[in-house]
Amino acid sequence: MADEPLVLGIETSCDETGVGIVRGHTLLADAVASSVDTHARFGGVVPEIASRAHLEAMVPTIERALAEAGVAASDLDGVAVTAGPGLAGALLVGVSAAKAYAYALGKPLYGVNHLASHICVDQLEHGALPEPTMALLVSGGHSSLLLAPDITSDVRPLGATIDDAAGEAFDKVARVLNLGFPGGPVIDKYAREGDPAAIAFPRGLTGPRDAVYDFSFSGLKTAVARWVEAKRKAGEDVPVADVSASFQEAVVDVLTRKALRACRDEGVDHLMIGGGVAANSRLRAMAEERCADAGVRLRVPRPKLCTDNGAMVAALGAEMVAKNRSTSDWDLPADSSLPVTEPHVPTASAQARPEQGAPSPRGYAHGPDDAHEGGSHHDHVHELSRKNLYAP
Ligand code: KG4
Ligand code: ZN
Repeated sequence: MADEPLVLGIETSCDETGVGIVRGHTLLADAVASSVDTHARFGGVVPEIASRAHLEAMVPTIERALAEAGVAASDLDGVAVTAGPGLAGALLVGVSAAKAYAYALGKPLYGVNHLASHICVDQLEHGALPEPTMALLVSGGHSSLLLAPDITSDVRPLGATIDDAAGEAFDKVARVLNLGFPGGPVIDKYAREGDPAAIAFPRGLTGPRDAVYDFSFSGLKTAVARWVEAKRKAGEDVPVADVSASFQEAVVDVLTRKALRACRDEGVDHLMIGGGVAANSRLRAMAEERCADAGVRLRVPRPKLCTDNGAMVAALGAEMVAKNRSTSDWDLPADSSLPVTEPHVPTASAQARPEQGAPSPRGYAHGPDDAHEGGSHHDHVHELSRKNLYAP
């Protein structure tokens, strides 16, 4: 285990300041500071408030993670950070912090993709991801079916939402029902008391001529809003539990149906579900049932690892180190629309001259002193470490 890469991961793409530390597939620390309460009264995440909160929480959260893991910053093999997608200003805080720590400590920097991180985090729960991995990624900003032959280098989108993301639909329906923000957890809670068959809400894009792997939740959201409005106009009470359960059932039915169809079509015998909506209890239960019926093995991380956190970023960073992927440059940008097909942001020289990416004899560079061993990937770190600000 001591041979496995020790990586610190920083996540700031939305309203969670997450700092995680992993060694290979082992979770050592998962510190999260959320600014969600400060956004609640606005009914959604306010980017400027999120950025400011990240700035305030960053250093204490990093220190908390290091203490929790019981490791010294100087022992790290790398610093990983969400480079995108997400809120530009929020991402910038994490990227700047990661650069500062990596540079000062003389460690390699890995700018990684938030979406690939949501998938890779399952390595901390269920061990090495199968290759390829079939993943259903459902969060506040994304709903996608992805086939990843290699989570560090090859992620292929099979389908995605054509309008609202699944989590966004939960948040909007919660607003219609006056349940506050974020909507997912509270709808999940009310739905437990309700009847999922009470109201027949539409299942988007499930017709014979519809795109097989794409999703649409905006029609469903409108149908719920109309139904609730009609009740209110008629002066009747809105049965919040039944509406929650019926809405949730429609979302979860479509998500699991399409995910299992993709497994069958692609001949993949397992399904990974990640992202904030994967914390949903009904999604987890229905996926379990349908996967069991189809002979598909289900992999869903515990709810705390499904919502945004730093451990998932560290998990993907550790995988980048283990697979000897290129580090990122010191001018790594925060890219609010980083495509899901780019699991990380490699150094420009590696992109231009891939033949120089020879693996180092030890599989990965342990630090500045052996960073130059077998390839050019880590050379910039090695050079910068000569001017190490805080010599470990
Ligand atoms: O992955 P995440 O934490 O942030 C993004 O990258 O978007 O996902 C946040 C989304 C929110 O829309 C939230 O309402 C939803 O995940 N969510 C849930 C549950 N917990 C969080 N949706 C349904 N049921 C839940 N239990
Ligand atoms: Zn997320």
